[in-house]
Amino acid sequence: MLQKMLIKGGVPLRGAIPISGAKNLALPSIAAALLTDQKLTLNNIPNLVDVNSAIELLNYLGVEINWASRHSLILSTNTLKTTEAPYDFVRKMRASILVLGPLTARFKKASVSLPGGCAIGARGVDLHIKALQQLGAEVELENGYIKTSAPAGLFGCDISFPFSTMTGTENTLMAAALAKGTTKLINAAMEPEVVELANLLNKMGAKIEGQGTPVITIEGVDSLHGATFDMMPDRIEAGTYAIAAAATNGEVILKNCRRDHLSSFFETMSLAGVTHEETEEGVLVKRKSDIMPVDVQTMQYPGFPTDLQAQFTTLMTICKGAASITENIFENRFMHAPELVRMGANIAIHGKTAVITGVNALKGAQVMATDLRASVSLIIAGLVAEGETAVNRLYHLDRGYENLEEKLTNCGANIKRVSVD
Ligand code: EPU
Repeated sequence: MLQKMLIKGGVPLRGAIPISGAKNLALPSIAAALLTDQKLTLNNIPNLVDVNSAIELLNYLGVEINWASRHSLILSTNTLKTTEAPYDFVRKMRASILVLGPLTARFKKASVSLPGGCAIGARGVDLHIKALQQLGAEVELENGYIKTSAPAGLFGCDISFPFSTMTGTENTLMAAALAKGTTKLINAAMEPEVVELANLLNKMGAKIEGQGTPVITIEGVDSLHGATFDMMPDRIEAGTYAIAAAATNGEVILKNCRRDHLSSFFETMSLAGVTHEETEEGVLVKRKSDIMPVDVQTMQYPGFPTDLQAQFTTLMTICKGAASITENIFENRFMHAPELVRMGANIAIHGKTAVITGVNALKGAQVMATDLRASVSLIIAGLVAEGETAVNRLYHLDRGYENLEEKLTNCGANIKRVSVD
């Protein structure tokens, strides 16, 4: 059943919002269960459509999975039914590619459907494939599938990524953990999710060093064992609610927010006139002035995250002046802009830069969500706008925001989900 979100804007958000476990850590952590025949317990897993998609895929492969409680998953991978991840799973979620490395490393072969294009850009997986080839796997592309084979196992080597890739680094990290000898990942992604995945693998018996720096060294081991691991809080969810608080001129405490994971984001927010302060309950976010224009460039970690670009664009639509936002990671990540324009925003796109001239107020309208972060940027716009906003195609939102309506309603927002007939 299709759903849309109805929002009556103009209410400043006030209250506390608990931040859920990180989606982009939960997805590779679930894939890591393929690396061991022992029990992996993952705590603070968010209840999200993407997490369910990952669980369905692993279930299909033959992994035994149980929810021990609402946010705790127990996964055991003794024998697999298949090493093939079919199109129907990968089509639903690109992060399904994360099973490629673990399957090839432990089961010596894999067949994973090639992800197609996606709303925000071409998003190739060539670097994932090349890294596995360098580790000694034979790789063929056949009928839309990536087929790997490594009958003698994988062998450590130096792998240099021409540019940073998060899931590419994660896939290679998981494969190299079970390779013979030492692997060095050069120009590895430095995002906190990558660091935490390495920490999880180390808890499972891997020998990984240098996570969080551009060079990660992995000394391969023969096997990995079970472990229990907690997901860190989702930095993108925290940043999203920080922007919602500022945009509505409210005051929100982000509970379990890791400020150190959001340094460049909070620096940018300060320039925009938004303060943040550590309190006993969490990080308190509020405005200290009108919203000021800031020029932002999205960058790999520790730079300003592309996953907060759409939300920040919404904040800039009501700034006092003109701001520019340059998207350096994805080539097509301004799909929210024309929708914001429908709500009265003044945005001109020039190649990879959006120039935003602040307006006094946004006006409620019917808008269409195109991807996860674009969806939530429109929700924030709806919270700010005069009158009623309807955000259509909500299924994108549910991939990455746990209990969004409840979290916002508890802060006073007037928001409800309705079915579209
Ligand atoms: N790229 C290639 N070839 C590759 C790999 C990447 O050309 O083999 C390009 C991509 O097309 C893109 C750039 O490299 O232009 C960076 O992509 P990256 O591989 O880092 O992205 P990802 O690993 O597919 C993860 C997150 C995204 C987030 C990006 C960038 C997960 C599951 N997804 O994607 O999250 O935007 O890193 O930080 O971790 C989201 O949560 O909304 C989301 C899209």
